[in-house]
Amino acid sequence: MTSAHAVTAIAGTNIALVKYWGKRDVALNLPATGSLSLTLDRLGTRTTVVFDDGERDRLILDGAPAGDAETARVSAFLDRVRARAEIARRALVTSDNSVPTAAGLASSASGFAALALAAARAAGLSLSPAELSALARVGSGSAARSIFGGFVEMARGERPDGSDAIAHALPDGGNGENGWDVRLVVAITASGPKAIGSTAAMTHTERTSPYHAAWIASVPADLAAARAAIAARDLPALGAVAERSALRMHAAAMAADPAIIYWNAGTLAAIACVRALRAAGTPAFFTIDAGPHVKALCGAADADAVAAALRAVPGVSDCLIAAPGPGARVAPQLETR
Ligand code: DP6
Repeated sequence: MTSAHAVTAIAGTNIALVKYWGKRDVALNLPATGSLSLTLDRLGTRTTVVFDDGERDRLILDGAPAGDAETARVSAFLDRVRARAEIARRALVTSDNSVPTAAGLASSASGFAALALAAARAAGLSLSPAELSALARVGSGSAARSIFGGFVEMARGERPDGSDAIAHALPDGGNGENGWDVRLVVAITASGPKAIGSTAAMTHTERTSPYHAAWIASVPADLAAARAAIAARDLPALGAVAERSALRMHAAAMAADPAIIYWNAGTLAAIACVRALRAAGTPAFFTIDAGPHVKALCGAADADAVAAALRAVPGVSDCLIAAPGPGARVAPQLETR
């Protein structure tokens, strides 16, 4: 056996403009629909994996040992990597988010994208981006998209084994030198972990919401409209898709029984702010994930003004401006143990 080899990978989170909310297979974590997102240069995760002689897998998250549930989820993910690499060694995983996990902004998207890349390499596997995307998806559906940079589309796929449920970068999708220079302004409207995690919430929506089927049926047209808007660099068209996709996803969740309501007063005030900006001539468009924060899509030249307007909204505690970022990558190695 060669000596343990630590690999560090970095991934940016991504924000879906056409949301993923529903699964066609829970065990393999296959999405019920495609989705489309923008990978960001901020709000990412840096993860180091080393397979060593420890008795069990250990996870250090933002400087402290992680809880049992989080460690178990990472361990189950590592089992897939170990099976593929035909190794048995346990791993030490050290993961740091560029914003505090407790702010409810650090997502499983950048976490599992960085973990997939670092663990695969540390286990001696050399996987293609498509294979890494399929691997990351098993950890978290949205993570499949963070393997790629800029605008990314995730395919629903048809195969039962999930090998075609993978993401790909859209051509000239905002990450290259000639990419579309948009911004996402993240308005933070609460602190603390979210009320209900997205995995449980989407399963609950599927089981109990009378609007779930209508939500799923609406996604293919939104994907086509978003693709066309990105190709044409038509911000109002893309923004319109993003707003209706987010509202329809939340409407399906709100109609579940019992209801899932992620919004707070700051969320509604931030939505009103974005709509007021637009009415006054600034093209800005909101989206909301499984939490209360509001993300505004706008042009690079308008980002400071959009952030200033959102910072003044009651209930908004802070704003971050994020640009399109690259896909998951291996960091230069500082040490090899
Ligand atoms: C609202 O990818 O976190 O952010 O696959 O169960 O881990 P799991 O879910 P996750 O769900 C993301 C939900 C969303 C929309 C999106 O990112 O597409």
